[in-house]
Amino acid sequence: MTARTRIPTPNRNRTRTSTRALDSLARTAIKAAESAYAPYSKFKVGAALLAEDGRVFTGCNVENASYGLTNCAERTAVFKAVSEGTTRFVAIAIAGGVGDVAMPCGACRQVLAEFCPPEAPVRCVSLDGSIVKDFTVGQLLPGVFSL
Ligand code: THU
Repeated sequence: MTARTRIPTPNRNRTRTSTRALDSLARTAIKAAESAYAPYSKFKVGAALLAEDGRVFTGCNVENASYGLTNCAERTAVFKAVSEGTTRFVAIAIAGGVGDVAMPCGACRQVLAEFCPPEAPVRCVSLDGSIVKDFTVGQLLPGVFSL
């Protein structure tokens, strides 16, 4: 099943994502990093994306011998969700890095801005969960490109 975790019903439809929900998302992102296919960089990344309806979609980075074809964890999660008909998200957790967090790349920031409101929390955690840094989509991409 794609939506592996459900945030409990009482937490749905709230305008602010609760601390508990973000903690849970971070744990799910750390777990998702275990599936990373990263034989070239050895840099594993996991993502957990919370949809407005409470569903959680996970993603990991998927590398390729033709390096430029690599897909980041965040975009894997977004594309999985969108391909299954879900396009509105309220928060994301990203797990990567040892000794510091992995920040989302520019491409992933633009993709997140397409589907998340600017106030949506972005929680970045190190792979072991010991370092946590919180941002919003709007903070990470001021001056987003839009049509
Ligand atoms: N990576 C992600 O999964 N997300 C990001 O936002 C930045 C980078 C991955 C891509 C590649 O597999 C590895 O990290 C090293 O660049």
